[in-house]
Amino acid sequence: MALENWKTPLSYLGLATLAYTSLQLNRQASIFLLPSTLQRYNLTSKNWALVTGATDGIGFGFCQELCSRGFNVILHGRNATKLERRARELEAEFPRGKTGIVVLDSVGVDSSIDEIATQVHEILKQHGGYLSVLVNNVGGDAKPYTLLDGNTFAEAQETMDKNAVFMLHITRVLIPLLEEGERGLVLNISSVSAYGMPYISVYSASKGFVETFTRALEAECVAARRKVDIMGLRVGTVKTAGFDIAENLFVPTGRVLASAGLNRVGCGQVIPYAYFWHWLQGLSFYIFPRRLLMNVTVKKMMSLKAEQESKEKQG
Ligand SMILES: NC(=O)c1ccc[n+]([C@@H]2O[C@H](COP(=O)([O-])OP(=O)(O)OC[C@H]3O[C@@H](n4cnc5c(N)ncnc54)[C@H](OP(=O)(O)O)[C@@H]3O)[C@@H](O)[C@H]2O)c1
Repeated sequence: MALENWKTPLSYLGLATLAYTSLQLNRQASIFLLPSTLQRYNLTSKNWALVTGATDGIGFGFCQELCSRGFNVILHGRNATKLERRARELEAEFPRGKTGIVVLDSVGVDSSIDEIATQVHEILKQHGGYLSVLVNNVGGDAKPYTLLDGNTFAEAQETMDKNAVFMLHITRVLIPLLEEGERGLVLNISSVSAYGMPYISVYSASKGFVETFTRALEAECVAARRKVDIMGLRVGTVKTAGFDIAENLFVPTGRVLASAGLNRVGCGQVIPYAYFWHWLQGLSFYIFPRRLLMNVTVKKMMSLKAEQESKEKQG
């Protein structure tokens, strides 16, 4: 009886579905098993990585992890004093690493951003080596947990500038420098919110830009045989200055996240999850219906909003 059932068209369909699902799962899981190819961008141990939004959170975590893997680091931020302090911290922790700083507000970008190439060239001229890695990390939400029209013009613009516009322009300006050495790498920091999430619609859309930009640029660089590899890293919740919540297995520190992200370089996917436990959480996006996921997300947003308001009240 069982054997007869086995031969029905429905059974074949079931088997094919099972095989396809296992293949997809294996493909996804293998990204956490392959060794990182990051060192191909620093064969001489003299090369530089530039990290945007480098003074805190995931950005500073990337600076620490890149230094620990033998790169010199250029820190980008908007506050010169804080940048200098963070650069000295890195030099104390990694005495063999060199640092440089670039001061530029990511909000209200204009054509003067083109001068960043000159500033980076000056640092390289002074110390030697090539710029071989760009980590587009700066980002955040100027007004989270609100309806779209709860944002002022300035707040909506700030979120788009910080997450999307700045990334577009700094990559445009620095791509030629990334090709000056043997090979360059661009790492764009995305978020699970690129899925399209309520009450953070501007931020969510800006991360949608990050993912589409990353895929388009990756295809373009392959087609034009440019000497630059383009990747994105999808990120779940991380404990940082910008998102100060309790740390646990699913909420790593910025440095743990950065380390995981660098380990994904060369995994074969254009935008993998950086961190295994975020990937596991992300499976829910494939398994559950969107309506159900959105109901859960709305509840989470409202509880984060209440938490933020109570912190603000306490001063
Ligand atoms: N934390 C999370 O749960 C999470 C989840 C998914 C994705 N991400 C993404 O990960 C990236 C980093 O997030 P994070 O939580 O680490 O952020 P964070 O702790 O708030 O740090 C942001 C960094 O960017 C700098 N920055 C902010 N506004 C700037 C501006 N206008 N011009 C120049 N620099 C500016 C900050 O400098 P100052 O010190 O001057 O403020 C700081 O160094 C973002 O792209 C974010 O969207 C984060």
